[in-house]
Amino acid sequence: MMNAFERFGLLINDRIVRTPVGIASMAGIVDADYALARAEHIGFAFIGGYAIDAPSMAAARTLAGENGRQEFLYSDPVAELTAQMAKMDGSDIVFGINLRGTSPASFRSLAKALGDSVVYEIDAHCRQPAMVEAGCGEHYLKNPDELLAVVRALKEENVTVSVKFRVGIAQDDRALAKSLWKAGADILHVDLMDAGSAKLRQIRNSCPLLIIANNGIAGFDRMREMLSHGADAVSLARQSDERTLAGLDAAITRFADEEGWYNSPKQLCRGGDIRALTFCCMPVKECPLIPTLERIGMPREEYIRMKLDSVKGTSLDTGTQTCFGSLAWCCKISSPCMFRNMTLKQEGLSTKEYMRLKRELSDTIMSRVFP
Ligand SMILES: Cc1cc2nc3c(=O)[nH]c(=O)nc-3n(C[C@H](O)[C@H](O)[C@H](O)COP(=O)(O)O)c2cc1C
Ligand code: SF4
Ligand code: SF4
Repeated sequence: MMNAFERFGLLINDRIVRTPVGIASMAGIVDADYALARAEHIGFAFIGGYAIDAPSMAAARTLAGENGRQEFLYSDPVAELTAQMAKMDGSDIVFGINLRGTSPASFRSLAKALGDSVVYEIDAHCRQPAMVEAGCGEHYLKNPDELLAVVRALKEENVTVSVKFRVGIAQDDRALAKSLWKAGADILHVDLMDAGSAKLRQIRNSCPLLIIANNGIAGFDRMREMLSHGADAVSLARQSDERTLAGLDAAITRFADEEGWYNSPKQLCRGGDIRALTFCCMPVKECPLIPTLERIGMPREEYIRMKLDSVKGTSLDTGTQTCFGSLAWCCKISSPCMFRNMTLKQEGLSTKEYMRLKRELSDTIMSRVFP
């Protein structure tokens, strides 16, 4: 049996993620017990949101009192989160805490108290007026310098940082993704609202960070749509019932076992993201490859050298009968091609192994595009 790392190759906080399906936070609802009750079907969970300082705790009380919203209420965030973490001990769920805090110092002191065994997710998502007025949630998207300061403070404590945000709120989501990457964030947890996969592709093409796509992912088609436009994983909040999670887990496991690359992108000319350069031909004709290379500032000769150097010594470094003399330039396995398939047969390479090698090539390309 294939193990989870061979199947998905997905790590968060230096831990193997069993499946790229997880739970997104819902204040007052998603805690350790909620995640543990779904442990069989998920790879990760972000519990919370938890208010971590006096202003955000006051805002949570306002929301719970005046507006009747469900919130986690307590007087000591460190004690509450320590208790939640203790419950998760021994579980193979990779575990994050979604946090509402109003200053870098609040996040820093929490990280000092709780250590690096959890992912610290900054809630830049909440749009409840009391929270935003307190200076957290969406406030951070309108004041990105403050958000970047929180990321830097957490990274100084050497913890893994995720940023949860809704698209279409910041002035420019692409610039936000890039600046979060530069500030040291590890994960972007993106609520796509109804923006669709084109928005996700823009974010994927702006940074090399791990991306969790969120919002309305209740079926496998939507999940694959997200994974083929740049997501590494998907999360569910409102539909995080056992049946839906189990269905997605089973379907993506089957897909990965059959195809070899669970989040393979579409070809570039079919709307794929930048990882699709792994399937692109030599730059010999006018097609979407040319503007893409211009956008990333890579001269054509460098692109050619990069791909050929990257496959040297691997099983992709063959294929004299193919269009451009090497499998490095060959298309995705879903594009039928007699010449590529003949080469694979001669070399004793399965289609699944071919896709796995294309994934490795794509990882190399990503590290060259985003040094
Ligand atoms: C009742 C409720 C509470 C939520 N609380 C939080 C929160 O505390 N922090 C956060 O980042 N997102 C919160 N969210 C947003 C969800 O994590 C998720 O981004 C959103 O519901 C869209 O995903 P879905 O379609 O899978 O529900 C909340 C959503 C709901 C419905
Ligand atoms: S190089 Fe080939 S695969 Fe890439 S965009 Fe052009 S035609 Fe499509
Ligand atoms: S040989 Fe087939 S798979 Fe390879 S580049 Fe040509 S058409 Fe694509």
